Amino acid sequence: MAEIGKWAAAKGLWVVTDEIYEHLTYDGVPFTSIATAAPELGDKVVILNGVAKTYAMTGWRVGWMIGAADVIKAATNLQSHATSNVSNIMQIAALAAVSGPLTAVDEMKVAFDRRRKAIVAGLNTIDGVECPTPTGAFYVYADVRGLLGKEFPTSNGPVRPSTSAELASLILDEVEVAIVPGEAFGPSGFVRLSYALGDDDLAEGVRRLQEFLGQAK
Ligand SMILES: Cc1ncc(COP(=O)(O)O)c(C=O)c1O
Repeated sequence: MAEIGKWAAAKGLWVVTDEIYEHLTYDGVPFTSIATAAPELGDKVVILNGVAKTYAMTGWRVGWMIGAADVIKAATNLQSHATSNVSNIMQIAALAAVSGPLTAVDEMKVAFDRRRKAIVAGLNTIDGVECPTPTGAFYVYADVRGLLGKEFPTSNGPVRPSTSAELASLILDEVEVAIVPGEAFGPSGFVRLSYALGDDDLAEGVRRLQEFLGQAK
């Protein structure tokens, strides 16, 4: 964070930092904001955050921005014309969330941590899949390059996915597990899976992947 911040400051760049997962870190890994890690950024840093993850208020569409007064003023003007702002009820609910304790997120973290370990262990039993253990948020980013070019049996005959997008679509069609192909973030060869779901559903999803992907030839 400090290095990226120093680099951006030296180039005179602005940094917009999305800190929505600030409270969701594991294994004692501390959260670091680029704004404090690289104070040389000065006013050229804008922090984004929201209630969606910390307070499990996904769908409430409430977030906030922290930045220099003129930036916030301009963004407020833009937002008021673009979206006509967040409803009052949601603002009051969000205020209650951020004014309260973090007890709920601490409880959720125990569950996420358990699911994180379960998905990583489950995916790593599949030949051709390498899944590193994430230390934040609630996604794993698995390397599936070992499966590309392999043959998978389907009801319409054998299929050979050559990209992670093709593999994700095959998995969705064949075993109804929705995963995001790496193409959404960068190169092909990787897939993102969320573990923000119940333990039983997660176990069932992993079981389906193990069974289907285990047939690769
Ligand atoms: C990185 C990141 N930032 C921000 C959000 C924003 O969530 P919302 O639009 O629900 O407040 C999400 C949710 O998926 C996210 O993954």
